[in-house]
Amino acid sequence: MTASKNLNPCAISPIDPAKARSAGSLDPLAIDGFHHIEIYADSAKQSAFYLAHGFGFRPVGYRGPETGHRDSVSIALQQGNVLLQITCPLRSTSPLAEHVHKHGFSAKDVAFKVPNCAASFYEAVKRGAQPVSAPAEWRDQNGSIIHASIKTYGDTVHSFIEHTGYEGPFLPGFAPYSQIFPRDVAIEEAGLAVIDHVVGNVELGRMDEWVAFYEKVLGFTQFKHFSDKDISTEYSALMSKVMNGGGGKIKMPINEPAEGKRKSQIEEYLEFNGGPGVQHIAFRTNDIISVVSRLRARGVRFLWVPKNYYEQVPSRVGTIREDLAKIQELGILVDRDEDGYLLQIFTKNLQDRPTLFFEVIQREGSQGFGAGNFKALFEAIERDQAERGNL
Ligand code: FE2
Repeated sequence: MTASKNLNPCAISPIDPAKARSAGSLDPLAIDGFHHIEIYADSAKQSAFYLAHGFGFRPVGYRGPETGHRDSVSIALQQGNVLLQITCPLRSTSPLAEHVHKHGFSAKDVAFKVPNCAASFYEAVKRGAQPVSAPAEWRDQNGSIIHASIKTYGDTVHSFIEHTGYEGPFLPGFAPYSQIFPRDVAIEEAGLAVIDHVVGNVELGRMDEWVAFYEKVLGFTQFKHFSDKDISTEYSALMSKVMNGGGGKIKMPINEPAEGKRKSQIEEYLEFNGGPGVQHIAFRTNDIISVVSRLRARGVRFLWVPKNYYEQVPSRVGTIREDLAKIQELGILVDRDEDGYLLQIFTKNLQDRPTLFFEVIQREGSQGFGAGNFKALFEAIERDQAERGNL
């Protein structure tokens, strides 16, 4: 390993707000899709190993003491078009350490690609967003990007990232991972292609506030409404509204607990996450059978599906292209709506706290989220919850 304090240093310079405001006639809230999701962890090294060897995310970028970055370590991971950044503090006095102490392994930043970062940031702030970082250019030897961020639910933020022909492995300041760890084994991707949607859990009675935030501040529209009649079980219930942004490229459902006989899984999340935050990240694939076969072979754990779930599938969803026996063997869920069908599966929690998890989804026409699966899914989640004594 070649350690050098001058390896890929990143210079940060603020963007002049006056210039930014007059930066052209682009829609100030145009969003081109998800850029990446940053996860805070106690150890970037261990988390990256888990996501690489378990889920097929390839480490592509590194920023840390070896690159002259003294306070934290970040590892950038890529699979298909999905980018994840795992960041950890190096000292207990770091604000990152406080976040990890409070929330554990958790999504911190759901970052969007935008054509004009400063325009997006100032328009969002004008519409009521709380600023976190003002627009600044991040530059290294590979070029530059423009970055800004605003607050959303809990301690989560949205960054706006404008690429201006940046050619490095991830963001300015990151060295190619293989340059820092040249002897690491190559990671084989599992087939996850893009981020499909990111779901947030907020407190009871706060969902509509956050729906209004996404509508008013970011120009999103509401996609579908599940009432607690759709998503309820004997013991718990939730309400969910799906926010659509970026011309359909961004889907962000927001859940809140609804009254149930026992503690809802959303309440369990809120208790163990220490407040609102990202509940799950869904990755889309065009071959869920191959992906889930690979992940299961690598030891990834998925939610248990009640056996009798599959008895109802043929009558509930009709004919599907995939082999139903294989679908059942792998524990994949199936749902259909007026536009087509979808196949989906949920991992168990990615960490010991009952908080963040992943979903793998294959869409065959359906643009929904598997409302018909909610009951089966929630029964499965609650079975786990009961085992932890939290129901
Ligand atoms: Fe989902």
